[in-house]
Amino acid sequence: MKSNQLRLIVISMGMFLLFSLGNGLQAQTTGWNITPAIKATKNPVPTSKESKADGKELYNKHCKSCHGSAGLGDGTRASTLDVACGDFSSSKFQATTDGEIFFQISAGKGKMPSFKRLIPEDNGRWAIVNYIRTLAAK
Ligand code: HEC
Repeated sequence: MKSNQLRLIVISMGMFLLFSLGNGLQAQTTGWNITPAIKATKNPVPTSKESKADGKELYNKHCKSCHGSAGLGDGTRASTLDVACGDFSSSKFQATTDGEIFFQISAGKGKMPSFKRLIPEDNGRWAIVNYIRTLAAK
């Protein structure tokens, strides 16, 4: 095969990949697709002092840069995002179920990465849910 042909194939494959990625992002920004089963999923990790401390450590490492240290959506990276990160202190947010928050952390959406691979232990992501509960406005 001539190198020109090869280059053309590589370029078209690259364009196809970019196109599919772009479409994926667009589809994600339309909603979290929370099902009743997700909402009803029970948190298997008790809200102990230890789990909240574990959750805090993971939160500060993986989430704080966007969501901010108090979960107000004002992390240092927040201004670089085209969508708001939400406000974990709000009663509206705190009214969502543990299962829903766990799902959101695991799945990610748009600019927010999926943490299923980044934090592979389910219990780590549940511990973050327990920590996020402590961020509710007092
Ligand atoms: C790169 C920035 C970024 C990082 C890092 C990030 N998020 Fe997010 N997060 C977002 C954005 C942006 C949204 C809003 C997405 C949307 O609605 O399109 C969001 C939404 C959420 C929501 C839903 C908020 C709501 O109001 O419904 C939860 C819960 C959440 N993130 C938890 C986390 C947790 C926990 C971590 C760390 C494990 C994390 N995020 C890491 C950017 C980030």
